Amino acid sequence: MADKRSKHKSKYTIDRQIPGAFEGETVTRRRFMTVSSQAAGGIAAASFLLPALGFAIGPIFKSTPEHWETVGTVGMFTDTNYTPVVLTLNPEIGEAGKTTVYVRKYNSAIDTDPYDQGSAFIAISSRCAHLGCPVRWVDAAERFICPCHGGVYDLLGRRVGGPPVRPLDRFYTRVIGENVQLGPRFSVNSELRRFSPRDPGEPLDGIGQYLYPSRPGAQKL
Ligand code: FES
Repeated sequence: MADKRSKHKSKYTIDRQIPGAFEGETVTRRRFMTVSSQAAGGIAAASFLLPALGFAIGPIFKSTPEHWETVGTVGMFTDTNYTPVVLTLNPEIGEAGKTTVYVRKYNSAIDTDPYDQGSAFIAISSRCAHLGCPVRWVDAAERFICPCHGGVYDLLGRRVGGPPVRPLDRFYTRVIGENVQLGPRFSVNSELRRFSPRDPGEPLDGIGQYLYPSRPGAQKL
C-alpha cells in the first residue's frame, strides 16, 4: 500500500524535484511557455485562414433571386430553327450585362433526351463553354461555332469539336399568355442532364460535377 502511494506522482513541481520549482507551482514554466506559444500561433493562423475560408465558401450560401424576362411571342419561333434573342442577365452593367440566346420551340423528333420532356421551348446560351466567347448559330451547317478557338457544337448545343469541356448552357423557359419568357441559366453535361450554372471551362461529366461546384455569380454572366 505504502509502495503504491510513493509511486503516485505529486501535482506540485517542487515535489517532483524539478530544478527552479516554486512552492505551489503545478505547471513548469517551460510547459507553460510551450502551450502559450502554440496557442498564440493557432490564433495567428486562424486570423489569416478564417477570413480566406469565409470569402471562398460564403458565396455558396447566397442565392440569386429568380429573374424572368419576356423575349418574344410564341409565334416568333419555330421548332426547326433557332431565333436569336437578347436577354438581360445583369441590368447593373448596361450593355455588357446582355447576351444573345438562341431559342426555338420544343421538337420531339430532335429533343429526345428525357430532360427536355415537357419544355415548350429550348433556349441555348451563346456563351462558349470553353472560355466564354460568344458562339454563333450557323443554320446551313446546323452547328454553333465559336470564333475564338474553333469550338463546335451540334444542334442541341453538345460539343462536337474543339476545346470546350461541356455542352452550351441553357435557360429555363415558360409561356405566360402569348409571351415566351426566359428564366435562370443552367448548365448541362454531355447527356443534357441539368446542373446549377457553372463557369466556362468547368466540366460536368464524371468527377467534374463535384470538383467545380456552382457559384451564384455564374447566373449573372
Ligand atoms: S472560347 Fe470558344 S473555343 Fe475557346
